Amino acid sequence: MSRLITILLLVGAWILFQSADNEVAILDKSQSLYQTLNQLGYRSVEHTVDESIEGASAKIGEDLVKHGFSEGEGQKKVKRQSKHFVCTSCHNVEREDPDLSVSDPEARLEYVVKQGLPFLQATSLYGAVNRTSFYNGDYVKKYGDLIKPAKNNIREAIQLCAVECAQGRKLHDWEVESILAYLWEIQLTLGDLNLDENEASIIQKAIGGEKLEMEAIQILESKYLKGSPAHFIEPKARDKNNPESFGDAQKGKLVYDVSCKHCHLNNKYSYLNLDDSFLTFKWLSNKADTYSRYSIYQIIRYGTFAMHGKSSYMPRYPKEKMSDQQIEDLKAYLDLMAE
Ligand code: HEC
Ligand code: HEC
Repeated sequence: MSRLITILLLVGAWILFQSADNEVAILDKSQSLYQTLNQLGYRSVEHTVDESIEGASAKIGEDLVKHGFSEGEGQKKVKRQSKHFVCTSCHNVEREDPDLSVSDPEARLEYVVKQGLPFLQATSLYGAVNRTSFYNGDYVKKYGDLIKPAKNNIREAIQLCAVECAQGRKLHDWEVESILAYLWEIQLTLGDLNLDENEASIIQKAIGGEKLEMEAIQILESKYLKGSPAHFIEPKARDKNNPESFGDAQKGKLVYDVSCKHCHLNNKYSYLNLDDSFLTFKWLSNKADTYSRYSIYQIIRYGTFAMHGKSSYMPRYPKEKMSDQQIEDLKAYLDLMAE
């Protein structure tokens, strides 16, 4: 009899122990990164939404980003933001990197293909509110002094892009605030940060009041980029003497399908129709071997110029947005399809 009681006591103790342990370990992955940092006493960014601006809403912001206009009830009638583009011509609004602490085009391509997203020149707007610097690296070469006010100011960054990238009209204050409100809806959560068990438990304990705030903040801040790096590089011609450097046509097909066709299929944003016909592949494949503006090596690294507000243009791919190897992969695919 006493042995039975001992066993029952042990089982009871084990159950209690298990549930106590679980309570400490579970971190709510849907909690926002910004709010978590705030809870730990660290104000990571300053650009929260200004509620006093009349007529602004996240819904209007989402419409503007995805469609270029908004037809909400009782809303002021305004002109379409751009004749040429919408924000999602060049930016995703979903997470596009498997590891947010690096900008790696090879890993990104694989990730976006799995998610059914395009692979684009600009950085995803998902998590943009968690960043503190914009138009980084070589974008200063393209936009010069225009970047200064936008460099650390997300409202100015939105406005700059509306006019310079999207080649459209200036946004009204309530439109900028609406877009900002929408961007707050697509901010980073703890689930985006690939925290391992140990890291999650340190953060959970710090939230619970244990003296681990500094460690927790450091972990969180190491898991994502506060600015998206961008380097413009020169076209790298194919090394004909080194067949080892030739690309992988299967990967090249992905580049063609989720990058080029996003804008060029059925002339979506360009006069140039790029489809899956033999003639298109033949043309691109032949042009690639020439020094012309139609060569993939040139167009990908230089893009085309925009005539202020008058026309659409093709943004260039910085090396973080397409690697030289991916361009070789595309070339291999074009050659294969042109045979
Ligand atoms: C034709 C392409 C294009 C269009 C259209 C476009 N953008 Fe951009 N945008 C860019 C590029 C290129 C950058 C440079 C920095 C980056 O994203 O890596 C950029 C940067 C930004 C940034 C700063 C991001 C960062 O981390 O540096 C914001 C915010 C932004 N755009 C918002 C918008 C909004 C809002 C719209 C629609 C009104 C828009 N963009 C339309 C190409 C575009
Ligand atoms: C964000 C949209 C976008 C993406 C992505 C894109 N392009 Fe373009 N591209 C354009 C636009 C817009 C033009 C037309 C520019 C103009 O009117 O001068 C263009 C022009 C071109 C031209 C003609 C250049 C010229 O001087 O007229 C070629 C070739 C080209 N693109 C190839 C590509 C290839 C290859 C890819 C994939 C690696 C690609 N594009 C991806 C938007 C895009």
